Amino acid sequence: MFQSNRKELQRTQQRLVLVEAENKRLRQENEKLSKKINKHDTKLERTSLRLKAMAKAVREMVIMLDDDLNVQYATSQARQFFGQSGKNLPSLLEFSDSRELVQLVRDALAEQRALVDMDWQIQLGDTPYQVRVVTFAQGVAVALKDVSDIQRLGRARREFVGNISHELRTPITTIGLIVDGLLAQQNVPDDISTGLQNIQSEADLLQHMAQELLDLVQIESGRALFRLIPIPLTDLLQGPLDRVKSQARRKALSLTTKIDPVVMALADPAQFGRAFGNLVQNAIKFTPREGSVHIDTQVSEEEIVISVKDTGPGIAPSDLDRVFERFFKTDRTRSSGGTGLGLAIAKHVVVEGHGGRIWVESSGVRGQGATFYMTLPRSFE
Ligand SMILES: Nc1ncnc2c1ncn2[C@@H]1O[C@H](COP(=O)(O)OP(=O)(O)OP(=O)(O)O)[C@@H](O)[C@H]1O
Ligand SMILES: [Mg+2]
Repeated sequence: MFQSNRKELQRTQQRLVLVEAENKRLRQENEKLSKKINKHDTKLERTSLRLKAMAKAVREMVIMLDDDLNVQYATSQARQFFGQSGKNLPSLLEFSDSRELVQLVRDALAEQRALVDMDWQIQLGDTPYQVRVVTFAQGVAVALKDVSDIQRLGRARREFVGNISHELRTPITTIGLIVDGLLAQQNVPDDISTGLQNIQSEADLLQHMAQELLDLVQIESGRALFRLIPIPLTDLLQGPLDRVKSQARRKALSLTTKIDPVVMALADPAQFGRAFGNLVQNAIKFTPREGSVHIDTQVSEEEIVISVKDTGPGIAPSDLDRVFERFFKTDRTRSSGGTGLGLAIAKHVVVEGHGGRIWVESSGVRGQGATFYMTLPRSFE
């Protein structure tokens, strides 16, 4: 009896040692886990503090939503603006009374895409806001930026440029008239006559620049009205083509056209003619002597595509979009005359004025030419 009790005691003692060891191991494991959790907590706290500071620092209003448009978080600027002081934030439909905003977010969610790069603008009260929407796994982030200052500056810039170019036109015209008068006089020595002709062509260039600046300002400010009328495509393109024929002849360029003879376009003849004219003028200006310029038209169900192909220097891939920016000129053509506004105006005329597209293709290889394309709507009247 005593013997068996002793054995039992020994086994219990052994078990106790094992339990003690297991306990120790668990304690150590626990400590390790606690440390890990603490580390994560600190990290989380830091991230959260960082995000809070960031939300305070940016001027934009930021609203985070779940997929059902419930507001999960809004920066204090956004809460203040939308008059939301409660702790529980409502759905976006109650948070903001802007239908446009709700629609934009819905569109982004439906398409699962970020509406970031485009200039989405909405009006909240009297203030224009630029909207950026980003969808992510847990919902949507919306950032709203007050752009009234940018719009005001844009207006000021347009007014300034408009006034200056307007004021420039009178003295430039006067210079032209004086030079005309001097050239008309008899017995003008040759060297003086050459000098006067140079002044005249520079004055013409200045006049052209001032006019382009004025036109751009008008178009950009939305003051230029586009009156689209049905017109045969041949009539629309003939005027600008006639105006460049002599220029092409002087450079011994072959200027060929393949224009659909029956299709009707819907266009503002003066404005579209000028955009097309600039494309052809560019092709002629930049193509070296004895090269060729070809104008082609393709007609589809709903639109007409006009292309102007040349054998000039071509355009480097990195410049293909930039040529449509104001004042941009490529390195390959820097020495040639021109303001660098023609394509910026053409883009406005085609895109804003006619709902069309304009782009350029070029292999980029120097000397292999470029092809400019513009589209315009068809008329079925
Ligand atoms: N056909 C072309 N081939 C090569 N480069 C071109 C061609 N067309 C335009 N470019 C480039 O794009 C730039 C912008 O063209 P844009 O028509 O806007 O200005 P510009 O012809 O220089 O001046 P302007 O304001 O008188 O039209 C040109 O300066 C040139 O560098
Ligand atoms: Mg041009």
